[in-house]
Amino acid sequence: MADRTALVTGASRGIGLGIATHLAGLGFALTITARDAAVLEDVSRSLRAAGAPDVLAVASEASDADAVAAVVDAHAARWSSLSTLVLGAGVGSAGPVADYPLARWDKQFAVNVRAAFVAVARALPLLRHAAGEDAVRGARIIALSSIGGVYPEPGLAAYGASKAALISLCRSLNEEESGHGVSATAISPAYVDTDMSAWVHDEVPPEEMIPVSDVVALVGALVEMSSRSVVPHLVVSRAGASGYRA
Ligand SMILES: NC(=O)c1ccc[n+]([C@@H]2O[C@H](COP(=O)([O-])OP(=O)(O)OC[C@H]3O[C@@H](n4cnc5c(N)ncnc54)[C@H](OP(=O)(O)O)[C@@H]3O)[C@@H](O)[C@H]2O)c1
Repeated sequence: MADRTALVTGASRGIGLGIATHLAGLGFALTITARDAAVLEDVSRSLRAAGAPDVLAVASEASDADAVAAVVDAHAARWSSLSTLVLGAGVGSAGPVADYPLARWDKQFAVNVRAAFVAVARALPLLRHAAGEDAVRGARIIALSSIGGVYPEPGLAAYGASKAALISLCRSLNEEESGHGVSATAISPAYVDTDMSAWVHDEVPPEEMIPVSDVVALVGALVEMSSRSVVPHLVVSRAGASGYRA
């Protein structure tokens, strides 16, 4: 039986995959989720090769609250404890407020905020259990927010609002849970070099974006910290940029 377990949403690629791979190397047993079961099976193999003692892959659509809850329940059935919940699944789309289609607002809030809230609420008993088992480190929730949730940016109102909601959720969780060993951190990077930011390559080339490995390094530090320290929010800006834009 592994010492620590993590559940990583959005683990199929990008930042979520980077975090899952790092946690595998630390010996975490992992539950991973994204939409495509076949992709998750390939990722599971690579995570086992990276050191994860066990990997449970559960495909789910994040805008389906029951499916998100089922992922947490599958983790609970396997391990009954959860050291680290990584909320990595996210979508974004750009456009001015005046013409923004409501369906795109709804999709971003369903995937970026509602799914996160459902996963956290369902996982809290498991996180509290892990914090009880490991009083030194406690248990952590790590949410991939965005610098767009901190500083306004033309065209990113919907995405930014959804990411601001995640930052607020982490702060509220710390009020409610950190005294009992479960704390939450929102990480808010500027453009990270993944599929999600490819649309902006004409303006910001990939070599000027934050590498996935830097976000992973922050997560690596968080999971080793003691439960006596709460890190509510980490903002990561790009070198050479104003610091107030993605
Ligand atoms: N890249 C950036 O510039 C940047 C900057 C700041 C914050 N972030 C945030 O960091 C997180 C990870 O971003 P990334 O750059 O790694 O993005 P990415 O490469 O596009 O990966 C997104 C992940 O979310 C999953 N996902 C998307 N829609 C989903 C849905 N409807 N149901 C279930 N899973 C879904 C994807 O899985 P499948 O498509 O395989 O289902 C994938 O694993 C996101 O929350 C993003 O908002 C990204």
